[in-house]
Amino acid sequence: MSTELDDARRFEEKYSSLISNEERPLFHLTPYIGWMNDPNGFSYYQGQYHMFYQYYPYDVHSGPMHWGHAVSDDMIKWKYLPCALAPDESFDKGGCFSGSALTAPDGKHVLMYTGVNTIVEDDGKRLFIQKQCIAIGDGLNYEKSEQNPVIDSSMLPEGGSIYDFRDPKIWQEKDGTYACVVANRAEDGCGQLLIYRSDDLKSWHFDCVLERSYGEYGKMWECPDFFELDGKQIILVSPQDMNQSGLEFHNGNGTMCIIGTYDKVNGFNREDVQAIDYGLDFYATQTIMTPDGRRVMSAWMQNWDAISIENPDQRWFGQLCMPRELSIRENRLIQNPVREIEAYRSKHIHQKTVIESETSLPEVYGRTIDLTVDISPSSELYEQFKIKVANGSRNYTLISFKPKTSILHLNRNNSGSCRDFAHDRKCLVRPRDGKIKLRVLIDRFSVEIFVNDGEQALTATLATPLSAVGVTFESVGAPANVEVDKYSLDF
Ligand code: FRU
Repeated sequence: MSTELDDARRFEEKYSSLISNEERPLFHLTPYIGWMNDPNGFSYYQGQYHMFYQYYPYDVHSGPMHWGHAVSDDMIKWKYLPCALAPDESFDKGGCFSGSALTAPDGKHVLMYTGVNTIVEDDGKRLFIQKQCIAIGDGLNYEKSEQNPVIDSSMLPEGGSIYDFRDPKIWQEKDGTYACVVANRAEDGCGQLLIYRSDDLKSWHFDCVLERSYGEYGKMWECPDFFELDGKQIILVSPQDMNQSGLEFHNGNGTMCIIGTYDKVNGFNREDVQAIDYGLDFYATQTIMTPDGRRVMSAWMQNWDAISIENPDQRWFGQLCMPRELSIRENRLIQNPVREIEAYRSKHIHQKTVIESETSLPEVYGRTIDLTVDISPSSELYEQFKIKVANGSRNYTLISFKPKTSILHLNRNNSGSCRDFAHDRKCLVRPRDGKIKLRVLIDRFSVEIFVNDGEQALTATLATPLSAVGVTFESVGAPANVEVDKYSLDF
């Protein structure tokens, strides 16, 4: 084992015990210690789900990237394993960037990642060259391949940047061969997705350009994924430097789902482009196929523009979102929390009532809850329906809906954050005569909202004191009929 990996493993084992369970979210994965960004290598291997993640154990800020590692039986309750990869080779000294995993026919666990090496030019300018690498292991320890890097700059199509070439998502085709999709910056400065193919995981060749931004959807694209879902071909990607476009895309780092068709002769044919999540903190998605055939997506529940540390005493930074089951309905990406979360529900409260002025409902409160609110107009259409969650004497996060405009609004201005970054997002939902169904998952440091059985999702981290446990409801303009189902989530 290299000194770098040994050091990381010793460090995390020694210091992770300084973080108590109560300081972490209940059901969202956080780093063993230190910094986390993207989910990596999300896979099912030898009877367990494996989640790796971009990891810098020594600080709550980003540093030379390692791969952290955790396993789970159900994608909800995770157990930490020792750090899997450290930046310890000439081809990845600058960091083991994002990548993915699969199980090889010989039973080995194969990780494919981006190795970064740093070049310092005469004028002091640092350049980071990115190449694709392989590491093979047994679910605990991984050996980097002697063939590394298996895909290097010489295999780029003309004009492709050698500095922005990363995040391979690998899969095995039905005929037993391997393929991966890698993000790259094309000659126009914008993102493109490249497909590479291999018969043996060692020798790879460039196949085709799968999709491109053409200046329309941000600049560099990151963390691509490509799979079939309900008869469509789906590309998930995280574009950098997006410009706002109506209520669909916001400025900065975004996420995007491209729905289309694909065949090897005609390539990808785009049918629809939509945001994946309409909230504040969601980036760098990665999916797996579960053994029972569900396509499940994870993501970093954070936004690069909002990484200033809220709590300097905290020994961890970064969380992954609740894994979400994906499907396609009427050419929309549908997302719902994995059904495994239902096993952790208790204390069911069902209330059917009429709401007018701001009120709480008996037993409907908590900071680790699964709450579904079904709202419909009474004799007159209400103007606005408001739900305040993580509501305490000074703080709350507001979810509000205006049926006349079909706009759902998430606002965490009063959630307790002392930082000056975006705290507000609006999302256009499908009009349904004033009816809307919201499923709200609240954990200690986040809220995730699933609209109308998964037609849209909005995610935000929260810096609200844990004493703020209240939930209130209010209907403005006219009363509204409401059905509430609330469960506590407990381990
Ligand atoms: C996305 C990303 C990836 C890269 C990784 C580095 O958040 O920028 O493109 O591989 O993070 O940590």
